[in-house]
Amino acid sequence: MSIIETEELTKVFGKLTAVDHVSFNVEEKEVFGFLGPNGAGKTTTINMLTTLLRPTEGTAKVVGLDIVKDANKVRNLIGLVPQDLTVDEDLTGMENMWLQARLYHVPKEEAKKRIEEVLGLVELKDAANRKVETYSGGMRKRLELAEGLIHYPKILFLDDKDKELGIPYGSGQPPQSASDVCQQCSISNKPDACLATINSTAQPYFLYI
Ligand SMILES: Nc1ncnc2c1ncn2[C@@H]1O[C@H](COP(=O)(O)OP(=O)(O)OP(=O)(O)O)[C@@H](O)[C@H]1O
Ligand SMILES: [Mg+2]
Repeated sequence: MSIIETEELTKVFGKLTAVDHVSFNVEEKEVFGFLGPNGAGKTTTINMLTTLLRPTEGTAKVVGLDIVKDANKVRNLIGLVPQDLTVDEDLTGMENMWLQARLYHVPKEEAKKRIEEVLGLVELKDAANRKVETYSGGMRKRLELAEGLIHYPKILFLDDKDKELGIPYGSGQPPQSASDVCQQCSISNKPDACLATINSTAQPYFLYI
């Protein structure tokens, strides 16, 4: 079974067709690079697949569940790193993580363990008690990634076209891609698949987890 299946997925805003009958499948263990220039409809497609937007036409299944009929179930199974950040600047990184864990009903003891784990993954442990307003853009994006992983999603949607996810490796080499991020996830409870936006084939986003 494909973990994401879209059939003729379409979104119309007024007179503009932002996504025009798009069909594709993503398999388990796949990191799917979603390529297109500015305005191609990548974010709009991700917003439909993550149940934030209702399709005008067409259907999609995520982990076998219909994105409209089973929207609530879908939300529990996916993680999203959105293009526009949602972390709260007035809170610390740690407070943001606790908020996210509560929103996803992760039990307290388990949340404590997972927060340690995912903040370690994105190398934000040292900055965890600082307010997010003092973070750099990349640090905010990494916190957003940590939030997207706190409920151990089966699929990670990475709308990271600006490639801000510069997570330092132990080797000193920064990761170049979403697939690097997903590899890092294999340390803990990794998602089964990742769909990541890219703007250019020059970006080495491919392709395994
Ligand atoms: N809420 C909205 N109302 C009207 N038009 C919209 C809305 N959201 C997106 N659009 C339009 O839909 C098209 C696709 O936008 P989208 O954000 O999906 O592109 P993208 O591929 O993610 O681009 P980028 O690489 O810049 O992030 C654009 O023309 C955009 O102006
Ligand atoms: Mg976009």
